[in-house]
Amino acid sequence: MKKTTQVLLTGIELPDSPGNPTDEAIAEFRGQVRVFYERHGRHDMLWRHTDDPYRILISEIMLQQTQVERVAVKYPAFIAAFPDVEALARAPQCEVIAAWQGMGYNRRAISLKKCAEKIVHDYGGTVPCDPQVLATFPGIGPATASSICAFAFNLPVVFIETNIRRVFIHFFFPGADTVTDKEILPLADRALDRDNPRVWYWALMDLGTELKKSIPNPNRKSTAYVKQAPFAGSDRRIRGMILKFLIGTSSSREKAIIDHLREEPVRVRRILAALEKEGFIRKSRAGYRLVE
Ligand code: ADE
Repeated sequence: MKKTTQVLLTGIELPDSPGNPTDEAIAEFRGQVRVFYERHGRHDMLWRHTDDPYRILISEIMLQQTQVERVAVKYPAFIAAFPDVEALARAPQCEVIAAWQGMGYNRRAISLKKCAEKIVHDYGGTVPCDPQVLATFPGIGPATASSICAFAFNLPVVFIETNIRRVFIHFFFPGADTVTDKEILPLADRALDRDNPRVWYWALMDLGTELKKSIPNPNRKSTAYVKQAPFAGSDRRIRGMILKFLIGTSSSREKAIIDHLREEPVRVRRILAALEKEGFIRKSRAGYRLVE
C-alpha cells in the first residue's frame, strides 16, 4: 500500500521516499505533477504559446530575476520593439535599456543584445539548439541554456532552477537539513518526461511557484540557496535610478545626477564609475549619457 507523509495545500499526496526513491515513487511523482499542471498550470503565459527560440530566449532571460506578473507586462512590449533577433542586434543599446525599464537587473539587457549580435554574426541568425553552446553566451548560465533548449526545442535536457529545486526538495528530501544540486540532479534525470520535456518543465515550475506560496521555503535547505538582497537603500536601486534619469537625455552633468538622486555624492560617483566600466554609460566633457 502507498504510504503518504504529507498532503499539500495543492491537494497532492506525497509518497514517502526520502532521497532515494523507488521507480514506483518516481512514477507516482510524475503522475501527481501532471495532474497538478492540468488543474492549476499557468497555461495563459504568452511565452508558452510560442516555440520561436528568439522569443523564448527573451522570456527566459527576463524570468531569471523578474516575477512572472511583471514579465507578462514587459515581454510583449519588448517583442514589439525588437520583433526578431536581427532587430535586437542592430538596435542601439540605449533603446534596449529603455525597453528594459521596470524589469530590474539591467545588465541582462546588455547581455541580451550581445546574445543577439552573436547569434546574427556567428550563427547566421539562428539560436543554437545546444545547451553547452548557449551556456557560453553572455548572461546565460547552464540552467537558462537548458531551459531555452527545453522550451524552444523540446529537448530532454536535465536541469534545475529555483522553482524546480523547491519541488524536488519538498517531495524527496522532507527531513533533510541540507540538499545539494548533485543530489537532486539524478532525480531530475529519472523523473524527466522525455516525450514532452517542454510541458514537464512548465509543470515543475508552476508547482514550485505554488509550493512557495503554501509552505516555508524548502530551498533554504539547498546549498545553492541565495537570498535576494533588499532593494530599498541598495546600490541596485541607485543604479536603476541613474539609468532612468539618463534615458531620453543627451547628457547630464555629474552634479545634476547627484542633485536629482539626493544620495551621498561619494556613493553616486562610485556607482557612476561602475556603470561606466560595465558599458552602460559614457562620460564626456558634456557629462554622462547612455551608451548608444
Ligand atoms: N514558463 C516558461 N519559462 C518559465 C520560467 N522560466 N519561469 C516560469 N514559467 C515559465
